Amino acid sequence: MSFAEERIDFTNKQRGYAELAQALTGLLTGERDRIANAANTSALLFGALPAVNWVGFYFAHGRELIVGPFQGKPACVRIAFGQGVCGRAAEDRETQVVADVSVFPGHIACDSASRSEIVLPLVRGGRLLGVLDLDSPNVGRFDANDRVGLERLAGIFLDATD
Ligand code: SME
Repeated sequence: MSFAEERIDFTNKQRGYAELAQALTGLLTGERDRIANAANTSALLFGALPAVNWVGFYFAHGRELIVGPFQGKPACVRIAFGQGVCGRAAEDRETQVVADVSVFPGHIACDSASRSEIVLPLVRGGRLLGVLDLDSPNVGRFDANDRVGLERLAGIFLDATD
């Protein structure tokens, strides 16, 4: 296994995400366990992406999200569907890009350093498995290129994982 991903250049985001997609595919090959793959996915993304302070998973249990593997400071454990950015992504099954969390109604502040956030729903075969959440200490950190790149990475995780 190579750890070259730590040196991925995101000056050109499209190129950076293409490289990261390749690294993630390699990392998850041969393993389908959900916890193992979520743990390694969050570690890879946290190490490779610039300006992120939290990267991790929440898994759906009924109409509640429960925190899964992540990198960053300890986080809130349970989030109801519809609550905060993660709960909104789970409820609507739509990626949420929040440029400034201080103006998002009901934002749940787990790490006070977080200024912007992107949350991607993980949907397979019409079923919501959970969400992938990334936080940044910078306002406006996530743009359309991040959304496309991260949705691709979420798809790689879903395809590789039971
Ligand atoms: N800020 C999130 C909660 C999860 S933490 O960021 C890890 C939200 O509002 O859903």
